[in-house]
Amino acid sequence: MHKHHRPLGLATSQSGARGGVEIAKLRPVQPVTLLRPHAARRAARFFVEKFPGRSLYAVKANPSPDLLQILWDGGITHYDVASIGEVRLVSEVLPGAVQCFMHPVKAEEVIAEAYFEHDVRTFSLDTMEELEKIVRATSKDGVVASDLNLLVRIRVDNQHAKLSLGAKFGASEADIKPLLIAARQAADALGICFHVGSQAMSPAAYAEALARVRDAIVLAAVTVDIVDVGGGFPSVYPGMEPPELETYFSVIHAGFEALPVSYSSELWCEPGRALCAEYASLVVRVEKRRGDELYINDGAYGTLFDAAHIGWRYPVRLLREAESLVRSADFSFYGPTCDDLDRMAGPFALPGDVGAGDYLEIGMLGAYGCAMRTGFNGFGSVASEIVEDEPMASLYGTSAPARTNVVTL
Ligand SMILES: Cc1ncc(COP(=O)(O)O)c(C=O)c1O
Repeated sequence: MHKHHRPLGLATSQSGARGGVEIAKLRPVQPVTLLRPHAARRAARFFVEKFPGRSLYAVKANPSPDLLQILWDGGITHYDVASIGEVRLVSEVLPGAVQCFMHPVKAEEVIAEAYFEHDVRTFSLDTMEELEKIVRATSKDGVVASDLNLLVRIRVDNQHAKLSLGAKFGASEADIKPLLIAARQAADALGICFHVGSQAMSPAAYAEALARVRDAIVLAAVTVDIVDVGGGFPSVYPGMEPPELETYFSVIHAGFEALPVSYSSELWCEPGRALCAEYASLVVRVEKRRGDELYINDGAYGTLFDAAHIGWRYPVRLLREAESLVRSADFSFYGPTCDDLDRMAGPFALPGDVGAGDYLEIGMLGAYGCAMRTGFNGFGSVASEIVEDEPMASLYGTSAPARTNVVTL
């Protein structure tokens, strides 16, 4: 494990007792990220054991070297990378890992470095130009590569997702046939991939997308070796309680089984959020209260980018030794920078007596929270502590209430 920056001078808890309240008692001036390796490992094991195919971790969701190691130890051997920075990082941290370059638009130099220096053999594409680029960049002395796994990304509906990824990438219907035929000729293994959008709230997203894959295979009449259903597997946040992940897996399995592909073809997925959302939360301090607005010491340019820019709601709790009995009320947050945009509308429910000097825990920030923070305006602390309590919510609990699979811990 990599060493954590520990301004609090805390030793990692061995007792399993240390959580947010104990961190708050130390009155840290800067925000502190709480890391839960056990939660990330549990998520990895879940995908490894229950997804009916291979699970690639989408590194962009959280590129922490510690997390990469935890997922590797949990059985995740393949990694979806999208930039040369991620390729170099995974090569360094997990030299035995298999990397799949799943960004459909890459610089030619980057493809060459990935192929020749980092043994990357799997690339996605959504245009003929990108296919030509990959073939050129991986050729040597006029000889084209014969060991490429090429995945053609098709555009699918993102209507079930909370965060659409449907506009930017993906071959359109008219381009699919010639692209699949050309990629088949250049590939050792040919695949089709898609992304249903992040935080897909219904398994139907995958069933509908797999029906598009079926249309594409029939249209192009090519042999397909890999079907990659991408990311989009949800986590749990206030107001976003998805069906259980097993339902997604069985819908995907049924959709895959119905495809005109051979028995030896492989099913892949690329979860980001679902593997790491529960890994981290954040302890922040309230520096000021103005009515129902709390000024906290992390924000839009820190760990709370999505809370500010797309109105994502995270679970919050007040960290006091004695629980407040004051009725809860709805609050919005301001972050620490001098910028009006540094505002998280929420609403975030907290006891009505919360005020300056109080500490809060903001949960479920392991995905696209820690990964996106900046040092803008001199803020942006990297202090972190490993804790052994449970995340504020989980999709991987075992004692699910009858009404829902979401376990509030
Ligand atoms: C190609 C690709 N795969 C996987 C992911 C991970 O998606 P998610 O975090 O929704 O699972 C993304 C996210 O942007 C992506 O672009």
